[in-house]
Amino acid sequence: MAYKIAIIVGSLREGSINRKVARSICGLRNDNLDCSMIEIGDLPLYNQDLDSNPPPQWTRFREQVGAADGVLFCSPEYNRGIPGVLKNAIDVGSRPYGQSVFDKKPAAIVTASPGSIGGFGSNHQIRQAAVFLNMPVMQQPEAYLGHVSDDSFDESGCLKDGALKDIIKGLAHAFANWVDMIHRSRQLLAEDSAHRAQQPQAKEHA
Ligand SMILES: Cc1cc2nc3c(=O)[nH]c(=O)nc-3n(C[C@H](O)[C@H](O)[C@H](O)COP(=O)(O)O)c2cc1C
Repeated sequence: MAYKIAIIVGSLREGSINRKVARSICGLRNDNLDCSMIEIGDLPLYNQDLDSNPPPQWTRFREQVGAADGVLFCSPEYNRGIPGVLKNAIDVGSRPYGQSVFDKKPAAIVTASPGSIGGFGSNHQIRQAAVFLNMPVMQQPEAYLGHVSDDSFDESGCLKDGALKDIIKGLAHAFANWVDMIHRSRQLLAEDSAHRAQQPQAKEHA
């Protein structure tokens, strides 16, 4: 069974390298990850006053993420931090209070940049929000992809063979395993507790 993965890209740019990296991750793992890119560019800025009558774009976004088994964040770094458009999407999905669509969903965070530190600052700001939102975030491999540029991809937007493609392959494999492990452990725990509930109460020994 393929797990449904919501991919949220923190760049609205047509030729975004992060979007291309996200596509490559899907392409390399399409046998057991069923990936969909979730658009965030049309989301009105989060305003708590609108929670009682949310804009349709918020509802669409919440439903799409809510239906996923896991979330992959692929983002640039803007001024050493998380791009505003992505932070807005995270805020929209996290509310109303108690109804976050991110809750318990396994996640991975990938940041790509032409710079040498690969969006480290942005990566950890996304991670901080994801941890707060109760998402089990894949710890390893970390993915601060530096020196990524248009040259890293061929004319069709696929990663060229080389070190970056190998890293992405490893990452896609690890993320598929991570999502599977989280979901299967939850299922085993649920089965175990259902099984225990069916057992006659153990007699207490004096
Ligand atoms: C407003 C702005 C701020 C940026 N700040 C950083 C930064 O802090 N660190 C970094 O590595 N690159 C920074 N960059 C360069 C981006 O990494 C580069 O434009 C990258 O291609 C954007 O990702 P994308 O191709 O997915 O849109 C910045 C770019 C913009 C437009």
